[in-house]
Amino acid sequence: MADTWTIRKLIEWMVGYFTDRAIDTPRLTAELLLSHVLQMKRIELYMHFDKVIEPDKLAALRALVKRTSDHEPYAYLIGRTEFYSMEINVSRDCLIPRPETELLVERAIEFLRTRKAGGTQKICDLCTGSGCIAVAIAKNFPDCKIIATDISDAALAVADINIKKHNLEKKIELLAGDLFEPVINGLDETKFDLIASNPPYISESEFEQLDKNVKDHEPRQALYGGADGFDIYRRIIASVPEHLKPDGVLMMEIGYLQGDGIRKLLEPVFSYIKIEKDISDNDRVVIASNRMVENYRPDFFDGTVDRH
Ligand SMILES: C[S@@+](CC[C@H](N)C(=O)[O-])C[C@H]1O[C@@H](n2cnc3c(N)ncnc32)[C@H](O)[C@@H]1O
Repeated sequence: MADTWTIRKLIEWMVGYFTDRAIDTPRLTAELLLSHVLQMKRIELYMHFDKVIEPDKLAALRALVKRTSDHEPYAYLIGRTEFYSMEINVSRDCLIPRPETELLVERAIEFLRTRKAGGTQKICDLCTGSGCIAVAIAKNFPDCKIIATDISDAALAVADINIKKHNLEKKIELLAGDLFEPVINGLDETKFDLIASNPPYISESEFEQLDKNVKDHEPRQALYGGADGFDIYRRIIASVPEHLKPDGVLMMEIGYLQGDGIRKLLEPVFSYIKIEKDISDNDRVVIASNRMVENYRPDFFDGTVDRH
């Protein structure tokens, strides 16, 4: 790096450096790293473009640039990311929330709004990780009570930080254990209005082909879903009838190749199944219910959904 570095010069240099090394979203990454080191909001970088950066800050930035170019995800380096327009803390113990998962949250909130008259909505978020799904739902649909479970105590510690950060301690309860195992039906809750999950769903063959920044850095337990990627779905679906209200809905994120497979698993249990595509036109969220959901999305249960 040259000796006089302004914010503008640093961003331009990092964008070129990251582009040459095939780092995703080079400008965003450059701005996030710099705003982290300078303890400024991203917008403030633009307001101080000609500010000269002190040597100690440059040294800190250099270390982060080096690690980023070695494909360490920037969210782990700075300890946070953005999800559903909220800041979410992350650590290497949990998956970094993905923008694709926002579709599940959006559909969940839409569904809950159709049931407002039904009082406080009871929700279960299985495989909560950083807690991003539970936190986003509770923040946007306050009349709810969420039980969020995860098998990893370390991931739950991150979820706990996020729940406190967004003042949702009264809305979300964290339980450690295997899927529904820590949920005692009748003691913790009556049945749920909504069961949501983004479980591990990467198959053995896909796992080998994951990008280096995912495979080498994110927890395997958060990604790997068994030989065909469906292990956790099978187990969730087998237990759902015990925990879901008769008019409740199950919503799960799925991998882009899993639409047909998940449909086959759900057909014996649910009358209505809809697979939603994300903005890249890939299958991404499955929604299943045994009742029509009145006043829900106009394109849901309108005949385009499968009925068995
Ligand atoms: C794909 S990550 C999703 C995290 C978060 N919900 C999100 O959307 O970013 C899956 C999570 O499932 C957890 N997990 C894996 N197997 C589990 C099991 N049998 N029971 C509960 N949680 C499990 C992992 O620890 C990980 O936090």
